[in-house]
Amino acid sequence: MATNKLLFSVFLLLHLASFHSVSSKGNPNYADALAKSILFFQGQRSGKLPPDQKIKWRSNSGLSDGSAANVDLTGGYYDAGDNVKFGLPMAFTTTMLAWSILEFGGKMSGQLSEARAAVKWGSDYLLKAATQTPGKLYVGVGDPNSDHSCWERPEDMDMPRPVFSVSPSNPGSDVAAETAAALAASALVLQSQDRTYAQRLLLAAKDLMGFAMQYRGAYSDSVRVACPSYCSYSGYKDELLWGNAWLYRATKNITYLNFINSLGANDMADIFSWDNKFAGARVLLSRKTLVDKDKSFEPFRFQAEDFLCRILPNSPSKTTQYTPGGLIFKLSSANLQYVTSISFLLTTYAKYMTSSGHTFSCQNVLITPNTLRTLAKKQIDYILGQNPQGISYMVGFGTFYPQRVHHRASSLPSIANHPSHIGCQEGFQYFFSGNPNPNLLTGAVVGGPDQNDAFSDTRTDYTHLEPATYINAPLVGSLAYLAGRYGSG
Ligand SMILES: *[C@@H]1O[C@H](CO)[C@@H](O)[C@H](O)[C@H]1NC(C)=O
Repeated sequence: MATNKLLFSVFLLLHLASFHSVSSKGNPNYADALAKSILFFQGQRSGKLPPDQKIKWRSNSGLSDGSAANVDLTGGYYDAGDNVKFGLPMAFTTTMLAWSILEFGGKMSGQLSEARAAVKWGSDYLLKAATQTPGKLYVGVGDPNSDHSCWERPEDMDMPRPVFSVSPSNPGSDVAAETAAALAASALVLQSQDRTYAQRLLLAAKDLMGFAMQYRGAYSDSVRVACPSYCSYSGYKDELLWGNAWLYRATKNITYLNFINSLGANDMADIFSWDNKFAGARVLLSRKTLVDKDKSFEPFRFQAEDFLCRILPNSPSKTTQYTPGGLIFKLSSANLQYVTSISFLLTTYAKYMTSSGHTFSCQNVLITPNTLRTLAKKQIDYILGQNPQGISYMVGFGTFYPQRVHHRASSLPSIANHPSHIGCQEGFQYFFSGNPNPNLLTGAVVGGPDQNDAFSDTRTDYTHLEPATYINAPLVGSLAYLAGRYGSG
């Protein structure tokens, strides 16, 4: 008991110390956060790990992925705290990592090569998924239901690993267009390193985009296990818009612009996520008018600005909720994903505005690049510890951060410390334990606080404690911008 009390006092002191260091020292160390946000992707790797793997408590896993269909689908990323490889969020993650580099790679200094490696880990897998079997795109490995009924290290997986795909008779325009976007964006990032590889990515992207346009359908109608985790709730028109926008950026081929104008993709949006890409596509297309001065893209700028006016806290047309501590609050499950993806769009749109000295108005309220940057910085600072709890929502950043992340590999003993197999059900003793995770998933940003800024570090609560690759991917871009501007704080 006495020990517990002592520990509790030490914990409180640490808590207070971290709160004061954050509030008195001004800016968080963005350069440190940037490096950690990229390192996180190594913790999510599937397949055979390379010698330069820095997260050492992970080992090879999923080495026979694809064998159920006699193809090689090893590699790629586990999406979050489980061991399934879901194509839709993995592709969105890869697209956002690539976009982060395209806009802010120049501010990444030593981290640029690490960020490129994170993109390539995604694009290598997606290229295989798109090209192993002509006429088919593999969109998932592992059955979410059997996976979720286990608490098992990826290195120990022993349940069947079924393989899911889309094809002309089983369409999936959403997942195909997102994968096309990912491959095209990756090609843009990696072409200066390896032109041949980038051309292969682009060729596969073109094929997929043609397939997505020609055989229309939602992949969750073809691949039932996509739901409920990653149903395309917003439909597939947003991905067709987004995929064509990326193909147009990568190829400048007018075909993709004609596709865009044929879609009638006019839904308004006040969110941006692995599911709903309208806002992202419009910001991306606004670049053509703001940076390249092509007036025919003005309609996309109006739609992008409509989106921003739905987000900004001082906008009369705001439809976005904020917590009392000032955090954008969209949905109660994994809310920080919306915070990081929207913050990326704020930062990126501010960059485009600056390049042409552009401002706009939300009704009578003038919006400058600084309006957008101030909001984005506030969101990122909140994530990094400047919030009512005084907690950093990035694992391993600062002194006070979540210890019980909802993540199988992080919460179970490592292979190095516990080489013998831990079975599917055996792992639940670690899941339900109140102890901190033994392995630090450095850089992981968890789902985050509730709408009142409250947070409880409880592993079983996946809505607030689960990390995800698509929370981190857009954060990489915003952190690069902030590190470039403010450095180490
Ligand atoms: C543009 O893309 C379309 C569709 O993929 C293709 O048929 C056409 O040849 C391309 N045009 C050029 C100039 O590359």
